[in-house]
Amino acid sequence: DWIMGDYIAEAVAKIREQVGDEEVILGLSGGVDSSVAAALIHRAIGDQLTCVFVDHGLLRLNEGDMVMEMFAGKLHAKVIRVDASDLFLGKLAGVSEPEAKRKIIGGLFVDVFKAEAAKLKAGGAGHKGATFLAQGTIYPDVIESGGAKSKKAVTIKSHHNVGGLPEQLGLKLLEPLRELFKDEVRELGVALGLPHAMVYRHPFPGPGLGVRILGEVKKEYADLLRRADAIFIEELHNFTDAATGKTWYDLTSQAFTVFLPVKSVGVMGDGRTYDYVVALRAVQTSDFMTADWAELPYALLKKVSGRIINEVRGINRVTYDVSSKPPATIEWE
Ligand code: XMP
Repeated sequence: DWIMGDYIAEAVAKIREQVGDEEVILGLSGGVDSSVAAALIHRAIGDQLTCVFVDHGLLRLNEGDMVMEMFAGKLHAKVIRVDASDLFLGKLAGVSEPEAKRKIIGGLFVDVFKAEAAKLKAGGAGHKGATFLAQGTIYPDVIESGGAKSKKAVTIKSHHNVGGLPEQLGLKLLEPLRELFKDEVRELGVALGLPHAMVYRHPFPGPGLGVRILGEVKKEYADLLRRADAIFIEELHNFTDAATGKTWYDLTSQAFTVFLPVKSVGVMGDGRTYDYVVALRAVQTSDFMTADWAELPYALLKKVSGRIINEVRGINRVTYDVSSKPPATIEWE
């Protein structure tokens, strides 16, 4: 609509004025905020923006390719994809404590991003070097970082909207979404041409599947989990609630699959199986501080469980998590 059109024109003019002919780096995660920030800044300054997308190997099925297809493919933005999965998995080997895993993932993420940013800052080959770091900080982040929060909340913020990073890198900060609430960021994303599915996606934690594989993270586990989770999410989109006309994906605030590194016995044909277990988690919440487990239809659960067990060799049992927050948390770690 024209109001959003006006907003975009104004925001674009502001970014152009602030940046001038300088160059900007942005850490793209595939999440809503960094995606919308990237699309807006790209609209304003085109090739003066370079996005850095660090793939830690703990993303969902095809997620990295989808991010590249959207930003490099469709928007023709400059995106550097850093495939750091071996590095992350290597450092995570043997580590099972949740906060230790978060620290490793968050720390490595910053290291890898910093190394890329330093290269871009140095410039070369027709580039004078970046002077701005763009972040998808939104208004609630601005308020949050002012007050004391739980340790986990601090970790959340320190992951992608990295505190202190611009200073450490000697870069100026560009935060075009600072005044917007989440709903407004989403509307802006749609108006900028980002797909609805990307802009209305459930939140995904910075440490990714790293905190959805209980205990030690292994590539084998991540690969199984990715396939099982993709089936769950696909069926949440496929099932519509008759009363509201909405899909179960839209009726839940967050839904995902958790990998349990335990084996249970099953039967398949004439044989016995001894394979892994996954838990499905789906919650409804307005603020993520408290949450109810979602009363998903049995038909949906049945479809998902049947598909996962038949299609993902290595998983022979699917459970549904019926715990609310508190006392349980939304994630299992
Ligand atoms: P919990 O499990 O604490 O999750 O009930 C509440 C919300 O926070 C997300 N979450 C995280 N997000 N880094 C993130 O970026 C993290 O380490 C992290 N831990 C939890 C979780 O997905 C849910 O939306």
